[in-house]
Amino acid sequence: MSDKQYYENDRIWASGFEHSLDEIERLRAIKSLIAKEVTSLLDVGCGNGHFVNSMLRTEPIGRVCGVDRSRSALSLVKTEKYEASADNLPFKDNEFDLVCAFEVLEHLPIAIYEQAIREITRVAKKHVLISVPFQENIRSELISCPKCFCAFNRSYHLRSFDSNTIEGLFGDSNNKPLLQETKFCGTVRNYWGLSWLKRLVAGFRTPTLPPNAVCPHCGYASKQVERSAEHAEELTLDPPSTSQRVGQLLRGMLPSSTQARWVIAHYTFDQVDSNLQ
Ligand SMILES: C[S@@+](CC[C@H](N)C(=O)[O-])C[C@H]1O[C@@H](n2cnc3c(N)ncnc32)[C@H](O)[C@@H]1O
Ligand SMILES: [Zn+2]
Repeated sequence: MSDKQYYENDRIWASGFEHSLDEIERLRAIKSLIAKEVTSLLDVGCGNGHFVNSMLRTEPIGRVCGVDRSRSALSLVKTEKYEASADNLPFKDNEFDLVCAFEVLEHLPIAIYEQAIREITRVAKKHVLISVPFQENIRSELISCPKCFCAFNRSYHLRSFDSNTIEGLFGDSNNKPLLQETKFCGTVRNYWGLSWLKRLVAGFRTPTLPPNAVCPHCGYASKQVERSAEHAEELTLDPPSTSQRVGQLLRGMLPSSTQARWVIAHYTFDQVDSNLQ
């Protein structure tokens, strides 16, 4: 069993997540890092086209192209698009002025991750733009499968990034893109003691799977995912369960602090006077 079912879940792509204030801010920050000279771009793991569709609508760029492993997500992409995995991009060397990967690298298992980094470098001519969650505490969002008991991050995030990993993302090969600029955006609230509280509660019963959960190990799917596969046209989320409501209430009582949600990093293959828009 693989994580395929998770990414083919229509519920995620039609949820309208891209209309949140944080997402709008992220899109604006990403666009502000695109150099004027760029005439072709590839978005690796483009999802439902949140970025590429917007580029098509608002920015005069010659070629806008998206790649994703999810057929369900690609059905909403309006630009040139390909179903492919990030570790095997169906393009020539240096084919795009700019190659982007937004909120993708944290999802990739190690074997795919390292090859995906090489592929991004191979097909990019001049610029690379990466966005990832910043200093995410992956353990605080672990859930466990009620069938096989495998524990996994509820968003399928497999790795966390900080300033050092962003700086050294492309390793130390000769022809590696160099970090030029970073931007931070969005807000995430960290609750002190929340992971202990969760462990205490989970000690007595299995935490509820969120609506879009599919176990990456055995394929167990929450009822909502099974229903969405059968009735793709009726995509409404069930209201939060009682335990989710109790969780929200408890969070509200804990002390908390905020930090940036995402980091967006701009790399180029040589030192340029990046004439930003
Ligand atoms: C969190 S979504 C981000 C979507 C979009 N880039 C955005 O910023 O809204 C992660 C995306 O990575 C895609 N993905 C995961 N593994 C992939 C792989 N091996 N190759 C290509 N895309 C992949 C998923 O299908 C999904 O569309
Ligand atoms: Zn399982």
